[in-house]
Amino acid sequence: MEKMKLKMLYSGLKTEIDIIENELETALNSSSHFLNEASLHLLKAGGKRIRPVFVLLAAKFGHYDIENIKNVAVPLELIHMASLVHDDVIDNAELRRGRATVKAQFNNRIAMYNGDFIFAKALEYMTRIEQPQAHQVLSNTMVEICVGEIIQIEDKTVLEQNIRDYFRRIKRKTAVLISSSCELGAIAADASPDVVKRLKRFGYYVGMSFQIIDDILDFTATDKQLGKPAGSDLMQGNVTLPALYALEDEAIRPLIERTLEGPITEQERLQLLKMIRKSSAIQRANRLSDKYLEKALHEISFLPENPVKKSLVDIANFMGKRKF
Ligand code: IPE
Ligand code: IPE
Ligand code: MG
Ligand code: MG
Repeated sequence: MEKMKLKMLYSGLKTEIDIIENELETALNSSSHFLNEASLHLLKAGGKRIRPVFVLLAAKFGHYDIENIKNVAVPLELIHMASLVHDDVIDNAELRRGRATVKAQFNNRIAMYNGDFIFAKALEYMTRIEQPQAHQVLSNTMVEICVGEIIQIEDKTVLEQNIRDYFRRIKRKTAVLISSSCELGAIAADASPDVVKRLKRFGYYVGMSFQIIDDILDFTATDKQLGKPAGSDLMQGNVTLPALYALEDEAIRPLIERTLEGPITEQERLQLLKMIRKSSAIQRANRLSDKYLEKALHEISFLPENPVKKSLVDIANFMGKRKF
């Protein structure tokens, strides 16, 4: 149902998305059977493809040529994929998009090089883009993701952290990549500097909201919707925004502490989910996500008139209310 809605939102881009899907598959080809199997396994499991979609929409504010712009859209999805493969090593995750993670299907060593391989392919595609600024943005994005993921490792199971620490983390590990998708689409299409700046900021705010929603869904969605067990974040030691709020509640705090010490029983996991779902933590986190969404929509209002503006608004709103 939700996936259908997203398909509808993307319907104006169908031809281009198909081109990108094909390119992604071609891009992931290598002479190693292991690498091919691991990468295609993740690619074929689907995903929202929000980063390449933002690249395409942003490019529509400049000289739009799919043959050029696909060389930015493909690497952005590849960088996302690579970071997921590595993230699942860090989080020791068994499932992703409803399938075994690369690290679970193979092992951590394969996942390490599979992620590096996908990163390298992203760079290869980007060489077709001439603007030096685009390469600076891309490499800076990769640096930020690394820093974000390292902070996530440092902050794991730490109870003495606050909302500022959380924001510091999600900005780098998630918002910067979504922001760069918008920025790079505009740069590659030679949009005006003011448009580039607005789209970059739009992407940043959407990205912050996007990760907050991801962290809420980890508690509120079903295992099936998530493609992994609900409550995984806390069980893996990641103290996200809803958890930070729930820690303030004396009735829930001991259970969160126990989860972080781990392992917990299935009964405890269900109890944890039940308590967090009915606490005010979810509402409070949703309010913050909405604030970022509002800021994102505000940025759109400064963009020049263009039919694409409506798509940006609709997609941003969908992401803020999504169930997967
Ligand atoms: C998951 O990203 C990781 C986050 C940054 C929240 P997505 O929610 O875009 O993952 P897929 O690509 O749709 O699986
Ligand atoms: C996003 O964080 C991962 C990256 C930005 C690499 P999460 O840890 O929340 O992503 P999921 O939930 O595993 O998809
Ligand atoms: Mg993770
Ligand atoms: Mg998550």
